[in-house]
Amino acid sequence: MTSIVRNQWYVAAYGREIGRDLFSRTICGESILFWRTEAGAVTAMSDRCVHRRFPLSEKPSHLVGDTVVCGYHGFTYGADGVCVAVPGQTRVPRTARLRSYPVVEQDSFVWVFIGDPALAPSARIPRAPWLAQEGWTTVSGMEPLAARASLLIDNLLDLSHETYLHGGYIGTPEVAETPITTEVDEDAGIISVSRHMADAACPPFYAKSTGITGRITRWQDIEYLPPCLYTLHSRIAPVGVLPNADGTDPDAFHVEVVYAITPETEHSTHDFWAVARDFALDDQGVSDFLAENNRTVVLQDVTALDVLERVIADEADGYQELSINIDTGGLAARRMMAKLAAAGSAAGLPTPATR
Ligand code: FES
Ligand SMILES: [Fe+2]
Repeated sequence: MTSIVRNQWYVAAYGREIGRDLFSRTICGESILFWRTEAGAVTAMSDRCVHRRFPLSEKPSHLVGDTVVCGYHGFTYGADGVCVAVPGQTRVPRTARLRSYPVVEQDSFVWVFIGDPALAPSARIPRAPWLAQEGWTTVSGMEPLAARASLLIDNLLDLSHETYLHGGYIGTPEVAETPITTEVDEDAGIISVSRHMADAACPPFYAKSTGITGRITRWQDIEYLPPCLYTLHSRIAPVGVLPNADGTDPDAFHVEVVYAITPETEHSTHDFWAVARDFALDDQGVSDFLAENNRTVVLQDVTALDVLERVIADEADGYQELSINIDTGGLAARRMMAKLAAAGSAAGLPTPATR
């Protein structure tokens, strides 16, 4: 039984990763080839030649204009994945086409649809506008995780771990001490988890980037749009400073921490992370600090989750976890993922292994 939810859009890459070099990444167990046409459009197709499976991302495969030429015997494919030339004969077999994937470039991400392409137009592509928007500066990266995606979802929906796993970076005692509120909007497919700290220590991550020296009012408002996109709306202000009644909030610092959680396989995940801020927009020192600090924090999670994956792989079935209030968001996410998985398989699509 696969844990990967199909018939969904997933982040496959940052737009900056894809150019006129052949680029391959495994998404939800499918090896996908990406490249840009001469006009700049991103294409996504299977990274396996229909002839003898040679990966089209492997040298000496190469692009010629808007075609990709297999480096083994020269089968040549257009941007839509249809084979346009084969060696030794003029007739191209009708079935010679690579599976092509719906692809959309948005908010600095390249999204691919995994599942039945006919369902792509009606499926949601979540937005993360801050990542490519005037008034915000973003640092971002991707870390490979040798653990199943569900462990990262659990991790991100319960930030009480910041106090322990990320002490000295983003964690302070108040994060674990402050209760959360959780809301689930089944129709919109959004899980929200909020933690508002009225009077908290300012962790180095925010003290050094904002310049605030004293205690802070710190709000963490999570929105998770399963399966792929997670945003932590983070609000930092000198203690006691609240937004104005009209919603404006000039005296606070806002950080949008975005994660895209994309399964590579059943047991590995692409952990895309981005930190967008609405202050110190042109300060390269702040960008460098946040990039390095956030990557360190992500790697602390990666290390812990890689350990958990090994533990789970080795244990007998039937282990009973114990959940408490802090797990409310994570448990809601599990329920919503199970629903999406059931809907995905109800669409009748066989998994790649059985195809
Ligand atoms: S494997 Fe690609 S042309 Fe033969
Ligand atoms: Fe973490």
